[in-house]
Amino acid sequence: MRPRSTGSKPFDPAVLGTVPDRDRLIAILHARAPKDVRAIRDAAEKLLLEKCGDGVFFRGLIEVSNACACDCYYCGIRKSITTVHRFTLDEDEIIACAKLSADSRYGSLVIQSGERADRKFIDLIARCIERIKRETASDALPEGLGITLSLGQLSDADYRRLYEAGAHRYLLRIESSNPALFAQLHPSTQSFASRVDCLKSLRAIGYQVGTGVMIGLPGQTVEDLADDILFFASMDIDMIGMGPFIPHPETPLCDAVVPPLKERILLSLLMIAATRFRLPDVNIAATTALQALDPVGREKGLKFGANVMMPQITPQSVRRDYQLYPGKPCLDENAIECRSCLEARIAMAGRKIGYNAWGDSRHAIKRKQEPS
Ligand code: 5AD
Repeated sequence: MRPRSTGSKPFDPAVLGTVPDRDRLIAILHARAPKDVRAIRDAAEKLLLEKCGDGVFFRGLIEVSNACACDCYYCGIRKSITTVHRFTLDEDEIIACAKLSADSRYGSLVIQSGERADRKFIDLIARCIERIKRETASDALPEGLGITLSLGQLSDADYRRLYEAGAHRYLLRIESSNPALFAQLHPSTQSFASRVDCLKSLRAIGYQVGTGVMIGLPGQTVEDLADDILFFASMDIDMIGMGPFIPHPETPLCDAVVPPLKERILLSLLMIAATRFRLPDVNIAATTALQALDPVGREKGLKFGANVMMPQITPQSVRRDYQLYPGKPCLDENAIECRSCLEARIAMAGRKIGYNAWGDSRHAIKRKQEPS
């Protein structure tokens, strides 16, 4: 990160009054004085409450497989790490996690995995989606759990098949909207353009589309981060997940020069707020990576304008094998402990839990009501 200096120019709170343009986004991301940061936090939370209400929506997170065909330079489950024990949950294990999610009254779940497009895996996911929709339908949730997928770049045909099976949201992070930075983070077999194409085809198929970036990447500037937010807006994104970059010791970026811990946490929180100002009605997650760096990082995320959390429901036996970065929290808590911990954290943040609801973003709901 090379935060370019804005000199000693004091922060102008007037930037909080309107939808921020690029310069204003940059000014928000440069704020460091505690009173300025507090003003940004309070304005972001106020806007969230106004535009989206005080509900925090849960997505039970099932990490279904850590097998991965990609070799991203930052990721702890990249294919060339041979010390990772590779696992794939079976159908019954996945369904059991989904039922736990429904019993916990989480209205939605996220099915996440390493990137793999083998037939056997796609068939497994399609079958699971169909069963989850059928077997979690109840009076409280007549259409069953809302299902978000986070399985990386797949073919249009696979995206379509999984949508038709019943998934309705897809998360695919762009990691950085700066193509040069994207290229530094990935082998040449992965291209920025094809990831953008995937985001476009997900939208065309009918998914609610989520993306996001890592914050504090080597070589990333505050200008890059402002451009990331403009990228989210230009893609008409429905939901956003972003978090601090945490170098993993067994990856090529293990020794990358990154901003100090406190700076990465603050930048991540300011990114949540700045994104909320620019895209007021999207869902923004308070991500686990934030909590990995700060024990109360997720609560802070809520205060800076986030409204989604992803409690772990991955079986404890494999959670340790799915560590994209070191310091992943909640490795030892069971799902019930995770739930009570999150309930307490949300109450502390003065917010309510949106139980038994899909919790689609207002942005997505509006688009559905007013098709262009
Ligand atoms: N630090 C922070 N986030 C990471 N991710 C992967 N590796 C790391 C890391 N070392 C994030 C990426 C990916 C998501 C699933 O996890 O943004 O898209």
